[in-house]
Amino acid sequence: MRKNEEPMFKTYDTLEEATHTQPRVTALLACQHNLMPASWHMPVSKSPFRYAVAVREENYTHALLEKHRSFTLNFLPFDHYETVSMMGKIHGDIEDKLSKSGLVVEGIDSNENVLLSASDFIYECRVCDTYKNGDHTIFIADVSNIHVNEKQSHKPMLFSGRGKYATVEETFTVPKRSIV
Ligand SMILES: Cc1cc2nc3c(=O)[nH]c(=O)nc-3n(C[C@H](O)[C@H](O)[C@H](O)COP(=O)(O)O)c2cc1C
Repeated sequence: MRKNEEPMFKTYDTLEEATHTQPRVTALLACQHNLMPASWHMPVSKSPFRYAVAVREENYTHALLEKHRSFTLNFLPFDHYETVSMMGKIHGDIEDKLSKSGLVVEGIDSNENVLLSASDFIYECRVCDTYKNGDHTIFIADVSNIHVNEKQSHKPMLFSGRGKYATVEETFTVPKRSIV
């Protein structure tokens, strides 16, 4: 530690205590017509393109995914954060979340999962593997189709936990290194 100074870091041993901001791109996971906000997700393979989402066992979506083995991930622009927040407070086995959301449906994929019109882009996913660890199950999926909206918002929805949403203020494109 540096002399005569307060420690720079405070250390916690649970996620609940460490109320740190970790902005994560957030999407609406649709299994059939049920919508679940998801921020714990990541790409896991480039070719074939595979994507993983971590879903808590107690969520209705977990049971739906086990049954239907497919979903869409709808990446909505930041402007929809209030709707996403509302979708995270209710459960699809009790309420019709799609009609409550007021979101317009562009269509359904071949597995009857909805595609939301407001999305910047949408991944159509088929579950190819699962991995249970802790209180979430990781559903790994082949992305069979990627739908890219011609009108991009350039305002991704970032969720930092505890009701905090943000978007990107500034972006930079680093030039590719020229070959000499
Ligand atoms: C922004 C946001 C992100 C969330 N991310 C996840 C996630 O990645 N995995 C998860 O299981 N739950 C996540 N949740 C919680 C679920 O969305 C929430 O429990 C929801 O009500 C479950 O709906 P369901 O029971 O209809 O599946 C998130 C909630 C919010 C608001």
